[in-house]
Amino acid sequence: MADLPANLRISNHPLIQHKLSILRDKRIEPKKFRELIREISILLAYEATADLRLTDKEVETPLATAHCRAVVETIGLVPVLRAGLGMVEGIWEMMPGAEVWHIGLFRDERTLRPVQYYNKLPINPTVQVCLILDPMLATGGSATATVDILKHWGAERIKYVGIIGAPEGVNRLHTAHPDVPIHLAALDERLNEIGYIVPGLGDAGDRQFGTG
Ligand code: PRP
Ligand code: URA
Repeated sequence: MADLPANLRISNHPLIQHKLSILRDKRIEPKKFRELIREISILLAYEATADLRLTDKEVETPLATAHCRAVVETIGLVPVLRAGLGMVEGIWEMMPGAEVWHIGLFRDERTLRPVQYYNKLPINPTVQVCLILDPMLATGGSATATVDILKHWGAERIKYVGIIGAPEGVNRLHTAHPDVPIHLAALDERLNEIGYIVPGLGDAGDRQFGTG
């Protein structure tokens, strides 16, 4: 891709790159695959939340008053079923006050278009920052549809946290929603004829859940 969108952040963190090299390996078992998805997600979320807003807070330690800062924004984790599920638990441990709102989408294998099958968002938004969690950004149809859903809900600050993206998906998401930062561990070469990311890691849902 000649010009990368300004809002695309591909992590160079050595731990993320090391774990990704193991995750891609077709020989690893679902248990190890899930562990790596979890660990990479924590590290990516750490980077993606670097601009959360803080407020001053005074805390009484056993010795004196400490001038601290605490996150003020309420956070929603939005995993896209199924593959996004494996990204939730680790991140949630880092921010246990976050709400988790699941969105169910699958790609129609023939058209590659996203089909929504689960959405229990309440009428009004309940969080200030949404982190969309889905490891694969392929055509970008699922990610774009998820941002559409969240914006329609009224969400104002939305970030996409994925693991591997294809240029097609990054461009589509950025063109539709240039205000949404895209955090990835890698930007791969291309999509193949059936919409899989190459080299990618195969089917992220099947590899997590042992259904391939
Ligand atoms: C995968 C992935 C994304 C989507 C990406 O889900 O988790 O949601 O494909 O493809 P796109 O960018 O072309 O929309 P999939 O449809 O395989 O469902 P699953 O997670 O339930 O297996
Ligand atoms: N979904 C996946 O799980 N993998 C891909 O490469 C593309 C979509």
